Amino acid sequence: MPADQVRALADAFAAGGQDTPAFVLDESALHRNGEILAGVRERTGAKILLAQKAFACFPVYPGLRPYLSGTAASGLHEARLGAEEFGGEVHVFSPAFKPDEITALVEIADHFVFNSLGQWHRYQDEVLAAPRAISCGLRINPEYAEAVAEIYNPCAPGSRFGVLAAQLEGADLDGIEGLHFHTLCEQGPDALERTLESVYAKFDPWLRRMKWLNLGGGHLITAPEYDVEHLVRLLAGIRERHPHLQVYLEPGEAIAIRTGVLIGSVIDLVENGIPIAVLDVSATAHMPDVLEMPYRPVIEGAGLPGDKAHTYRLGGPTCLAGDVIGDYSFDTPLEIGDRLVFHDMAHYTMVKTTTFNGVPLPGISLVKENGVCTCLRQFGYEDYRGRLG
Ligand SMILES: Cc1ncc(COP(=O)(O)O)c(C=O)c1O
Repeated sequence: MPADQVRALADAFAAGGQDTPAFVLDESALHRNGEILAGVRERTGAKILLAQKAFACFPVYPGLRPYLSGTAASGLHEARLGAEEFGGEVHVFSPAFKPDEITALVEIADHFVFNSLGQWHRYQDEVLAAPRAISCGLRINPEYAEAVAEIYNPCAPGSRFGVLAAQLEGADLDGIEGLHFHTLCEQGPDALERTLESVYAKFDPWLRRMKWLNLGGGHLITAPEYDVEHLVRLLAGIRERHPHLQVYLEPGEAIAIRTGVLIGSVIDLVENGIPIAVLDVSATAHMPDVLEMPYRPVIEGAGLPGDKAHTYRLGGPTCLAGDVIGDYSFDTPLEIGDRLVFHDMAHYTMVKTTTFNGVPLPGISLVKENGVCTCLRQFGYEDYRGRLG
């Protein structure tokens, strides 16, 4: 994220007088991303959905509504949130639906994507008998992905995701109107182009019989380096090859990148061979991808160990010895009460927080376009207690 944007968010948050930890969202940046996505929709006819698994801060949904055609859900709860708070189309995919979920989802969702032929055959009668118009599709596995890490590779050998082309041979697809693939992760149109080649090579005969094709998420369309013109050409190419197909994209990250920070405070300073700062933000409870992915978050004004005069190990407030965000250096010594601002924490981080050790969940604030910071939500003891009994 640009440093001046991050500093402006931190200043607005400080002026609002809220306590840390807190996610601070940037309304203007959400609109900037929305404009880029709406531009793709207008130029290509492709519909773009918000993948709520990446970003589900529903109080800002009204601001995103004009740019997007609806939401993509990973199951009943996300579908319900999308229907209640966003509106528009509600698409749902799950690796495996349970019978009760299907019964509830037919009231809410208009596009179902099944992960296997078994799931489709099990639920097709119930879904197609629903009084609402529901379009059903299958997730396919193009057996091609350029995922950087295996944990993000849905086409890895033995993956549970999607139907293989060989499994479609001779299958009864009556009632299936769409195909869906999701193989990208923070990637550009080059990777999409190569993926499409694999999809065409393996699934073209079935595409001819479909009404829609969903290209999944992982398209980092709003990143400064993303080649939007290339994406527009690829989408035009799909339209040329299969003019009958409505194309969908369901990015999550692209909607929320560079739209929010996580602000924490230094609570204590200790020493054990290296100066250590204990923060009120936790890697494991508040930024689990730091450990899971893993990756090193950017902290405003901080450098690599040794780059600046004062290096610290930054640790969280939980019992996990490995609740360590990393080693960072600063121009001046850290002091208790100092605030640290973690870049780009709106996507995936907000939706993944936990109350492990009873640590408070970060509050959520929004810096409006006029620069004023408003608190959307604060969490307390009841939020911790409420999910445990
Ligand atoms: C099926 C599906 N659709 C969309 C997405 C959103 O991907 P991203 O946030 O990388 O755009 C994901 C992410 O895992 C996914 O699994």
